[in-house]
This record gives sequence, structure tokens and C-alpha cells, in this order.
Amino acid sequence: MSAAAVCVVVFVVAAVTTLVLPGPARIPGGTLPGLADAHGIKLGVAVAVDPLREDPAYREIVTDHYTSMTAENAMKWVHVQPERYAFDWSGPDTVVDFAEDHDLDLRGHTLLWHNQQPAWVAEGHYDADGLRAVMREHIQALLGRYEGRIDSWDVINEPFEDTGTDLRDNLWYRTLGEGYIAEGLWTAHEADPEARLYINEFGVEGGGEKADALYELASGLVADGVPLHGIGFQGHFVHGDVPDDLVENMRRFADLGLDVEISELDVRIPEPVTDEALAAQEDEYRRVVEACLDVSRCVGVSVWGVTDAHSWVPEWFPGHDAALPFDGDDRPKPALTGIHEALGRGRRSAE
Ligand code: XIL
Repeated sequence: MSAAAVCVVVFVVAAVTTLVLPGPARIPGGTLPGLADAHGIKLGVAVAVDPLREDPAYREIVTDHYTSMTAENAMKWVHVQPERYAFDWSGPDTVVDFAEDHDLDLRGHTLLWHNQQPAWVAEGHYDADGLRAVMREHIQALLGRYEGRIDSWDVINEPFEDTGTDLRDNLWYRTLGEGYIAEGLWTAHEADPEARLYINEFGVEGGGEKADALYELASGLVADGVPLHGIGFQGHFVHGDVPDDLVENMRRFADLGLDVEISELDVRIPEPVTDEALAAQEDEYRRVVEACLDVSRCVGVSVWGVTDAHSWVPEWFPGHDAALPFDGDDRPKPALTGIHEALGRGRRSAE
């Protein structure tokens, strides 16, 4: 082949690759991590351990497009301490090492929750002192092992009932009373004084009675000097139902002196998933990222999964799919454009 022909082949291959492969070079106006850094927010993603170890395409999506990671499951109680004192650090270590190797921030998820608890905790029949000891051991083990390496922790996850304003009737509440929330936060603070400590909740992203109840709880904790540093608004939305008062609602929490973030964003589409729905989902992702950019104490937006092939949505919400910015074949969707355009615009106003 002549030199000219080689050049043509190289050019065509490069052009086709540029069109087909996801990657930072395809995005005009700057990479997502570059834009997120420039505007002082994290752009995060929840990761699973196996594909992080085994799938180069999965890893590349994470490192090309995001600046922060959350372990989707690996740091949950049932995986970390399946039996008392029998810790399994293999999953969390993989996530923490990967984040460090690629200069990504880390959200720790999660410590006190009603789900994914091992039977020895859930059915342990501990009295208050016994459960307090169990809580301390677990929090100290996790925050101690990763002290200084995990930026923020969801210490309290989903403390309210799914709907309404009552604190959730979980093991912690039943055994220790409402004070479990402050106790958990203090214990975490002692274990890693630099970590930013969060309450993480769903169904509170826009205003409403559940959001009001969370606001009351947070106000009380702040007034009592409890080490609460932020609120994670999970952001598991249904297509067509993304609240339009995200900014106002996040701002009132920020006005308490708390950081806020969208911690588990996905926008699930009822099947059949149409091109129209995917196009409209672009705007929904744009609006959520814009909302964060419009609240000066909003520290970031994290999406809940790397691609639609790894999303929790089809299993947990049968009849829904396509909730994330990458499709099941690792291809970017309009939603990614929405994120990119919001970041391209940047922070709008000081409130
Ligand atoms: C989900 C995971 O995505 C699933 O893989 C798992 O089976 C159940 O938990 N709120 C949270 C997350 O705080 O931990 C949940 O993650 C989704 C809802």
C-alpha cells in the first residue's frame, strides 16, 4: 500500500472511531470532568465491583466522564460485615483503590439503613447497649480503614418512611429511639473527623411533607451542634415527573449551612422506551444538573449506575428502563448531552 493510501485508511479509521466510540474527545467544549472541575462540582457515578475489575469499557466510561464514585453495593453492611467481626474488604478496597488510581472523589455509602443488613444484625435481638456496640464497631471499622480516603459518608440512609413524615420504624429507631441519628453521626465524626457526613433520602428532592419533615430533622441536628454536614437528595425520578422546585428546596437546606447534592440520579422511562422519551430525558438530566449549579452549596450530582445494563431499575421497577446516561451497549444517550450542556453553561447566579 502506498503512503497516501495508508494515510487515507488511518484517517477513515480515526474518523469512524471518533463517531462510534464514547469518549471525551467526542464532546465539544470540554470534557465532562474538565467542566465539572471548572464549576466546582463533582460529577459522580455509582459503580459495581465486578465490571470495575473485569470490563475495560465500563472502566473507561467512569474515568472519561466522571470525577467521583460511589460503591453501589460494596460498602453496605451485608457485604462488609456479613458475620460479626468477619469483615470482607475485597469489594470496598477495589473501589477505593480504583478511585485513588484515577484521582476520583469517593462517596461512602452507607452505614445505618434498613436494607441490606445481614441477619445477625437484623435478627440479633440486641438491647440498646448491645446495638450501640454493634453500631460503633461497624462505623469505626469502615471509617477507620479508609480514614482520609473517603471524602463523604452517607451515615444515615432513608430515615423516613417511604411516604409521609414519620421516622422510619427501622431496627435503629426501634432499639435506640430517634437519637440513633445523632449517635451515628457523632460516632462517624469521631472515627474520621475530616469526613463530610450526610443524611441521604429519597422523595425529598422537591418540596412536600416528607421534605419538610427532613428539614425539621436537619434543623434540629444543626441547632444541637451534631456533626451533620450535608443532605443527599437521591433523585430516583420517573420520566415526566422531575420536580420543578429542586433549586428552592435544596437552597433552604443550604441556608442551614449544609452542603447538598443529588446523590443517586436516574430517570426511569416507562416501557416502551421511545426516541421521544429519550429526547425528553435529555432535558430532565439538564435541569437536574442546572439545579445543582444554581445552588452555591450544591457539591455535585451522581448518577446511579454506569450504563443501563447495570442499572437497578429494571429489577426494582418492572416495566421501566433506560434510566441512565449510557445505554446497555455503552453508548452515550441524549441524557449525557443534557449533562454536558448544563455544565457548559456553568453556575448561573449567587443566591
Ligand atoms: C440499590 C442498588 O442499586 C441495588 O443493586 C440493590 O439491589 C439495592 O440497593 N437507595 C439507596 C441505594 O440508597 O443504596 C439503593 O441501591 C437504591 C435506593
